[in-house]
Amino acid sequence: MRRTEAVRSLVREARLARENLILPLFACPGEGVRREVSSMPGVFNLSVDEIAREAANAFELGVPGVILFGLPESKDETATGAYAERGVVQEAIRAVRRAVPDMVVIADTCLCEYTSHGHCGVVRGGEVLNDESLELIARTAVSQAEAGADIVAPSAMMDGQVGAIREALDEADFGNVAIMSYAVKYASAFYGPFREAADSTPAFGDRRAYQMDSANAREAIREAELDVMEGADFLMVKPAGPYLDILRTVRDRFDLPLAAYHVSGEYAMLKAAAQRGWIDEKRAMMETLTGIKRAGADVILTYYAVDAARELARR
Ligand code: PBG
Repeated sequence: MRRTEAVRSLVREARLARENLILPLFACPGEGVRREVSSMPGVFNLSVDEIAREAANAFELGVPGVILFGLPESKDETATGAYAERGVVQEAIRAVRRAVPDMVVIADTCLCEYTSHGHCGVVRGGEVLNDESLELIARTAVSQAEAGADIVAPSAMMDGQVGAIREALDEADFGNVAIMSYAVKYASAFYGPFREAADSTPAFGDRRAYQMDSANAREAIREAELDVMEGADFLMVKPAGPYLDILRTVRDRFDLPLAAYHVSGEYAMLKAAAQRGWIDEKRAMMETLTGIKRAGADVILTYYAVDAARELARR
């Protein structure tokens, strides 16, 4: 049964497809800007015009969607840039919409890229305040919907954020905008390169008071359950590779579409080893993404989306 590629292909169980892939992009101010992220070779901070071009190229290669992050002009205590009508992500959403009307546009909904302290919520007395953060997170989601996002993706890990967003979207007449919840998001060392890319390293402390402890599996079910009740349309597990058991559990317990985020550090590890000639990058990439698919993900957010799509197109 393994003798030839034709037979192997006939009996293959999990099939990675281009339709499963979402490309994360980082929008920054300016024009014609393409600044490579040093810890993520091949990933760039892109001005809005370049975002549109990059999205069009990805779509052309069969990647159906992008998820957008923003590096604002300036940061403050209340994350004003996150919900500004002319904010960098809002402009990036409009630019992708205009350039590639059929592309799925997802906006990451969080405050950490926009707060002066780099935390995902409102801070007082050195602590992140859950309930006080919900209003700003909901306002951010509405502004992203106004700009044309198909899907908002709350990633702040504040309790009740999905419910708050659903209510705010419905009130603002965006009942059709879907919520992809980062329901199961662990406090992870693998977000390191992202924080360089998005300039969102917390100025003090860490995110362990709101992101999950990596040792916890049952808690993932509780987190997912709450978000289902609050109106999530997708669930997400993040990171992906070190949490394949969690992906499988969530897949088996819930019927919503399931996303997995192959995060910055997972990408950086493969890149670094490949650059040293220690692994075959293409094969390691395809094996990694296939593993995530096999574990139960329907949607994979990955910085490798374009490379993987190219590879899949050749098969
Ligand atoms: C925002 C957010 C983060 C990532 C996605 N959304 C960073 C964090 O929680 O610190 C990480 C993505 C990656 O590492 O690729 N809260």
